[in-house]
Amino acid sequence: MSETDDTELEARLAEQDEFEPPESFVEGANVTDPGVYDEFEESWPDCWEQAADLLDWDEEYDQVLEDSNPPFYEWFTGGSLNASHQCIDRHLPERADEAAIEWVGEPTDEPDRTITYGELYEEVNEFAAALRDLGVGEDDVVTMYMPMVPELALALLACSRIGAPHSVVFAGFSASALAERMNDADSEYLLTANGYYRRGDPLDHLAKTNEGLAEVEHDVETVVVDRLGEDGFGHDLTDDQHDYDDLLADHRGAEVEPVERDAEDMLFLMYTSGTTGKPKGVKHTTGGYLSWVTWTSQAVLDIKPEDTYFCTADIGWITGHSYIVYGPLSLGTTTVMYEGTPDYPDNDRLWEIVEDLEANQFYTAPTAIRSFMKWGEEYPNRHDLSSLRLLGTVGEPINPKAWKWYYKHVGDEDCPIVDTWWQTETGGMMVTTLPGVKNMKPGSAGPPLPGVDVRVVDAEGGEVPAGGAGYLTVHKPWPGMLRTLYRNDERFIDEYWAVYSDTDSDDPEDWVYFPEDGAKVDDDGYITVVGRVDDVVNVSGHRLGTMEIESAVVAAEGVAEAAVVGADHDVKGEAVHAYVILEDGHEAGEEMRARIEESVEDAIGPIARPERVVFTPELPKTRSGKIMRRLLEEISDGEELGDTSTLRNPDVVEDIRQDVQGD
Ligand code: PRX
Repeated sequence: MSETDDTELEARLAEQDEFEPPESFVEGANVTDPGVYDEFEESWPDCWEQAADLLDWDEEYDQVLEDSNPPFYEWFTGGSLNASHQCIDRHLPERADEAAIEWVGEPTDEPDRTITYGELYEEVNEFAAALRDLGVGEDDVVTMYMPMVPELALALLACSRIGAPHSVVFAGFSASALAERMNDADSEYLLTANGYYRRGDPLDHLAKTNEGLAEVEHDVETVVVDRLGEDGFGHDLTDDQHDYDDLLADHRGAEVEPVERDAEDMLFLMYTSGTTGKPKGVKHTTGGYLSWVTWTSQAVLDIKPEDTYFCTADIGWITGHSYIVYGPLSLGTTTVMYEGTPDYPDNDRLWEIVEDLEANQFYTAPTAIRSFMKWGEEYPNRHDLSSLRLLGTVGEPINPKAWKWYYKHVGDEDCPIVDTWWQTETGGMMVTTLPGVKNMKPGSAGPPLPGVDVRVVDAEGGEVPAGGAGYLTVHKPWPGMLRTLYRNDERFIDEYWAVYSDTDSDDPEDWVYFPEDGAKVDDDGYITVVGRVDDVVNVSGHRLGTMEIESAVVAAEGVAEAAVVGADHDVKGEAVHAYVILEDGHEAGEEMRARIEESVEDAIGPIARPERVVFTPELPKTRSGKIMRRLLEEISDGEELGDTSTLRNPDVVEDIRQDVQGD
């Protein structure tokens, strides 16, 4: 393309705020009938039989939705099924020799690993047999603290085969975070690895695991995957630590009948951050969750069995559960897993993978897209990306400029982009365009999916008029919803329902789910999600609780009090800023800053490390003593300050502002 054409194109793209799905895409799309929205509304909740029909039920369900005890809804009651059967066994007649998982390790001199559906069947069965021999029974929670190696995906399926719920803890989280989650779930089994590679270097993950295990209050049987081989750190395994390969060798050829699970039986737990300090154990079930991720993978990601689908998320987060493992494998497609970072050995690593594997879909986070933009278009341009048919984003709002860059430089203006709003609790996508049906508007996630009743309301719960802003709410239950917080029904109601529901009512109409996001709504019902309205920050698409970070900051010796806020950041979306008051006799400076950083890394992990630490003699407080984090956020963002009149100590704000903004 000539330079003038390119400039014209840039100018046209910059002005355009609505894009039709490319015709070439629509022709072959899984969903193309605009009537699906009305059809689902009219037949709700029976419309969700369409999702359940994508699965292979052992026992047919007798009721789609049981809603007599809101908000404890049940879906597909009376039905039974097994998730590993959905993701493996039922594909064997057609796809035993086709790739289920294409795994790419970070080191470039190591061969990729292709796991066919036939091989997946074998290894999952062997590992399921081994887990049983270690004592894992139905409903025992198995924790995984694993890097992005194939054994992690295999282990999810092995657990689901024997009806043992898994609880995956992101490998970048600290030892203490691991222990906290294992203690909360009374989890007596752990799968970990001796290490993994990051930007060329091996990391000692087993040392961190062992530190975590020392804080677990009960006995644990641990399985260790040898990822590093000769690069390993030479730890000896203890008596209750078992080598993964040895276990598999001991169970060579074993077959385990998939356990029939009730639709409402727990498939997994996933801990996530909320307003208070303690992580919440979000509980997902077998029938509803699996229907949801399978249906959305088909309708939104347009996955077909013959596709190669690449999602760059980590299985340590919900996106990896729903859209690397369960959704894609349930549809019998090839799913790509990449171990490393996008910039190793160079900034074109992901494009190299797309080209090599001829990926058809690419699903990533806005923070990654902003990095790609910063690195420049020469990196995608170096590669033939013509296999791509659809692009997706998830995890945080995407600004129109990044959207357009992605559309042009990765999609070559020939791929629809699905901007998918959802969260750990929703199990799968809720608000996004159906790519073969709806136009796209950069920056706006789109309308709610068919059958999903999402509305933007004001503080009193009244629907805001088109063009207005307010809070995102969900007014009807959906199959993929969390069922409760593990062993804490009360907190489940408090956290998600109390604000907009009549909690004394038995009428589902009186129950409204509150995801704690702010949003705007357009004339045509398109929803732009602005971000969290609670004390949660979103750093590079990672959800972190400010309260958790604050308690880690305060745990550093010499810190008296702290307030943590999410400040705007060009690439990460938000960055952690900590405002800190020191105890008398402790000095502000590099040493103290390092101590605070270390304390946060120990409690949560490097992702939560404050990007900026501001030492201050006081924090802005209301007359009732509540810290005004909003003002600190305005200071961090370099904004004009809002109302300070309700403060007990208004002078302190100007001092902090001058210190941070430097004038
Ligand atoms: O604030 C919303 C933001 O991410 C939060 C959910 O985080 P988590 O449970 O970690 O799940 C992330 C992956 C699904 C939401 O409450 N979020 C997610 N997707 C979008 C988004 N914000 C704007 N646009 C999105 N597409």
